[in-house]
Amino acid sequence: MNNRYVIANWKMNLSLNESVQLAKKINIRLMKEIWRRQVVICPDFLSLSSLSLAFSKSKLNLGAQNVFWQEQGSYTGEVSIKNLNQLNVNTIILGHSERRTILKESSEMINKKLKLVLKYNLNPIVCIGENKEIRDKGRERSFLKKQLKETLIDIRLKKNQEIIIAYEPIWAIGTGKNMPAKEVKNMLNYIKEEIANLYNKNIANEKFVFIYGGSVDTSNIKSLAKYSDIQGVLVGGASLKLNSFIKICKNILE
Ligand code: PGA
Repeated sequence: MNNRYVIANWKMNLSLNESVQLAKKINIRLMKEIWRRQVVICPDFLSLSSLSLAFSKSKLNLGAQNVFWQEQGSYTGEVSIKNLNQLNVNTIILGHSERRTILKESSEMINKKLKLVLKYNLNPIVCIGENKEIRDKGRERSFLKKQLKETLIDIRLKKNQEIIIAYEPIWAIGTGKNMPAKEVKNMLNYIKEEIANLYNKNIANEKFVFIYGGSVDTSNIKSLAKYSDIQGVLVGGASLKLNSFIKICKNILE
């Protein structure tokens, strides 16, 4: 089995000081755990350089919540992958639903970002997921199939590269309405089948990792951890609380 991952997405929730304090505490708590390399912390952009220093001696991974698809140039307000790379960021979240819906990011944009992330040999986490309306109509599978196809156009993976696909049903994000673990497993298996259709079974097994996000917390992590097909979790709200986050990591990575 591929490695499992726990990704903390702090979104825009913490002040600079709070980010550094939380990062330091996580660092101390995970210092001796061999699986700490499977934990990725994604703070807001302005906290990245402080966290880069805080993590310089530990094996915790630093991730970014977004990147622009051009390396540098006249792109007001955008974020350069070159600078993320210099800050020792090794993982980048792409196409989070909050960016797809609020900032109108399209799968075409995410596809361009994904190409750049792979060019720089960084680890991409590609988010996909349906909203409530689509789920109520029972169209989630065809929706995900389309999202995957558009996002992965012309994406080829080199040796040692992998893509993490984070399935995050929008109706489950930040709502406390998480999807039952068995249903998560079924959806991840469906996504894997679609990847196998786009590439082949071997590539789907070896080059892709399938994780879940959406109201993951200490009350549901145990049931999610039971299924080996659930290869990790993307955690928002619960990653802001030290004890909850450590408990989630332990439940799924130990
Ligand atoms: P949540 O957020 O855990 O607060 O639902 C998950 C996410 O948006 O990645």
